[in-house]
Amino acid sequence: HTINNVDQILSELRLQKDELQEIMKRMRREMDRGLRLETHEVASVKMLPTYVCSTPEGSEVGDFLALDLGGTNFRVMLVKVGADEERSWKVETKNQMYSIPEDAMTGTAEMLFDYIAECMSNFLDQHNIKHKKLPLGFTFSFPVRHEDIDKGILLNWTKGFKASGAEGNNVVGLLRDAIKRRGDIEMDVVAMVNDTVATMISCYYEDRSCEVGMIVGTGCNACYMEEMSTVELVEGEEGRMCVNTEWGAFGDNGELEEFRLEYDRVVDETSINPGQQLFEKLISGKYMGELVRLVMMKLVNENLLFNGEASEMLKTRGSFETRHVSQVESDSGDRKHIYNILSSMGVLPSELDCDIVGLVCESVSTRSAHMCAAGLAGVINLMRERRGLEALNITVGVDGSVYKMHPCFRDRFHKIVRELTPHCEITFIQSEEGSGRGAALISAVACKMAASML
Ligand code: BG6
Ligand code: GLC
Repeated sequence: HTINNVDQILSELRLQKDELQEIMKRMRREMDRGLRLETHEVASVKMLPTYVCSTPEGSEVGDFLALDLGGTNFRVMLVKVGADEERSWKVETKNQMYSIPEDAMTGTAEMLFDYIAECMSNFLDQHNIKHKKLPLGFTFSFPVRHEDIDKGILLNWTKGFKASGAEGNNVVGLLRDAIKRRGDIEMDVVAMVNDTVATMISCYYEDRSCEVGMIVGTGCNACYMEEMSTVELVEGEEGRMCVNTEWGAFGDNGELEEFRLEYDRVVDETSINPGQQLFEKLISGKYMGELVRLVMMKLVNENLLFNGEASEMLKTRGSFETRHVSQVESDSGDRKHIYNILSSMGVLPSELDCDIVGLVCESVSTRSAHMCAAGLAGVINLMRERRGLEALNITVGVDGSVYKMHPCFRDRFHKIVRELTPHCEITFIQSEEGSGRGAALISAVACKMAASML
């Protein structure tokens, strides 16, 4: 009878197909509002033009530096862009990971960008290329309102970043200033892109049907190629431009209220940006572990788990991490993984406790996959309609720790996306080193365009 009570509590996390269709419909409405001039300001889904266009101008070859800020790791990369006989681009990379100290994330923008410039200087030293002035592509994974491919202001931080003095400012300017302050390196910042965009571009070079990029990692977001004529924020009618949806903010105008549960409200209220990124907070890796912990605490308080008693650690916010969710769901059936994780958190679980924790993880991560699927299905259905196609063949480039590391997220996600997108044939490809390669490849195109305008 314990299991029945547990199931009743977990059933709230289950979404029926008609509910997912409703979420998709509302997402679609917000996407349309985000694209339109008169509703853009008030839309929750901002649909930001990226100035990455479909008309290939060809590209330069040579060495590029790439920065990747906003995922789990901050990275500096050296990327060689070159052409082979078939004129497809071949790329090799060297890369180095740096961790961003907490005080750089939440201090001032100067501190953060000084730290970034310091890592670049260190990287160039290591590879003996400090004397070179390389073109640089910057993958900056936050909402940016672009004026051009190398210019755009940060609208707001997401995912736990909070450095003051950055919001409302040109991010490329902040980077250039920090490089200047150091005085020991020279860089030519030629392009700034979102991680979804970098991921799409890197996959596009393998598969020309790749016109969507998606991240399910610390944060969750997607971009896609939209007809220029419907991107009202940018002049011009010809061809397509990549739009960064910033769908993580879907729900910030109340569109998700009847789907949000008590756990979601706690996660939001205790976060660094309450009221913002509500769709992302139902899905992404920054929040998934904490959601599981809150559901477990609910079951403890109802006397359905751990004999009604939680350890101090389990009572502590953030103690159950998203990687633990993946580990629990990787359990082969002997409960060993689950037992080890729980005992390292100071509880001694019975077999039934282990099974219940398994069910909690499954419920939370399945809801995440299904919510995210409703978002992507919304994007893909929109693309098919826009192009007036009976059937759409499309490839989606994907990156992010939840998508890549969780043992079942991917399959549950694919299944629902396909159910919600009739007449669409969807291929998913995982990007490897996507952001570095994507940023370098688009920089190579930007260099060529700049050169041809001289
Ligand atoms: C990385 C990309 O592989 O994935 C980053 O290089 C991206 O640009 C990241 O932000 C997203 O995943 P996570 O899990 O690190 O947030
Ligand atoms: C957050 C950011 C977005 C990014 C996503 C994935 O949602 O706002 O720009 O693409 O995380 O990293």
